[in-house]
Amino acid sequence: MKIPILDLKPETEGLWGELTAAIEEILKSGQFILGPKVAAFEKEIAAYLGTKHAIGVNSGTDALVIGLRAAGIAPGDEVITSAFTFFATAEAISLVGATPVFVDIDPRTFNLDPQEVAQAVTPRTKGLLPVHLYGQAANMEPLMELAEKHHLKVIEDTAQAFGGDYQGKKLGTIGHVGCFSFYPTKILGAYGDGGLIVTDDDEIAETARTLRAHGAKQNYYNETIGYNSRLDALQAAILSVKLPYIDQWISGRREAAQYYNELLKDTPEIVLPYEAPYTKHVYNQYTIRVSNGKREQLHRQLQAAGIGTMIYYPVPLHKLPVYAGTTPRLRVAEQYAQEVLSLPIWPQMEKELQETVAEKIKEILTAE
Ligand SMILES: Cc1ncc(COP(=O)(O)O)c(C=O)c1O
Repeated sequence: MKIPILDLKPETEGLWGELTAAIEEILKSGQFILGPKVAAFEKEIAAYLGTKHAIGVNSGTDALVIGLRAAGIAPGDEVITSAFTFFATAEAISLVGATPVFVDIDPRTFNLDPQEVAQAVTPRTKGLLPVHLYGQAANMEPLMELAEKHHLKVIEDTAQAFGGDYQGKKLGTIGHVGCFSFYPTKILGAYGDGGLIVTDDDEIAETARTLRAHGAKQNYYNETIGYNSRLDALQAAILSVKLPYIDQWISGRREAAQYYNELLKDTPEIVLPYEAPYTKHVYNQYTIRVSNGKREQLHRQLQAAGIGTMIYYPVPLHKLPVYAGTTPRLRVAEQYAQEVLSLPIWPQMEKELQETVAEKIKEILTAE
């Protein structure tokens, strides 16, 4: 039997009728890029998140690039971010000509450690880019206080945490700009690339809308160098079908995570994911830490047994060749890159499959 790391089939099959009807409507409309479906989706998702503006773009990476620029981050600026995240987080900072300044993570949450951030602020710092990794919120309150003190813009990388909250407020709506990815494996996934920028700031929103369309508010009257980064109507229509189910799916992920916690709680080599008291973790990933240098072996043997696991991420960003030499040792990020392992999880995952995964893990870890 094979257990994938993510099975999208239950979601797709459950909504087959609604999805095909929505796709058919777009095919008949002949309007494939932006247009009324994208505008309607932007309105729906803004209401769900509780934000004033939502701007659909091509990808989460573009959301970050455009979000950073719209927030005023410019060449020469420094933006403090986590060393333990997907490459796109830092890539976006570099793409706008700014410098990513990597700091270490909180050992419990895997996210930016506010004390480390405080020490990394320099006169060139213009922004903070917290990531809500795996679906768990970064500790936003101290970060927002720092931002206020030093007049910094906060751009949230919410690619992995759609629907998550911080003290009851939706992630992505706490900083000045929130950036989301609709990559198919995300909590709210499209059937292709897609992304979103959210903000309560009218000026940032207008700049982001202009930048996504070649720097033009009105076609052919381009004001600045922008991007071709518009959300497809097909993806917007698909996302509109899925959005009403999102809370139910998040509950399914949380239940699956609780069940793994129960199944794996007495396994000494494993550190279970932590849920910070200020948030409701949405478990885009259920990520354990495996101590005693057994992670590689566990990963390999689970793969061999047909159980899909992933290492997010094997190299902290400051250790990648493009950023090598920029950063002194970051103890937690470097250690965790050797220890993390993400297990199969999806909202409708059957308990028996989780039991199989847990049994196999225990079997492998106790084999020697
Ligand atoms: C933390 C993080 N940031 C940014 C991105 C980039 O999103 P996308 O793949 O939609 O460009 C992703 C996802 O791939 C991500 O996980």
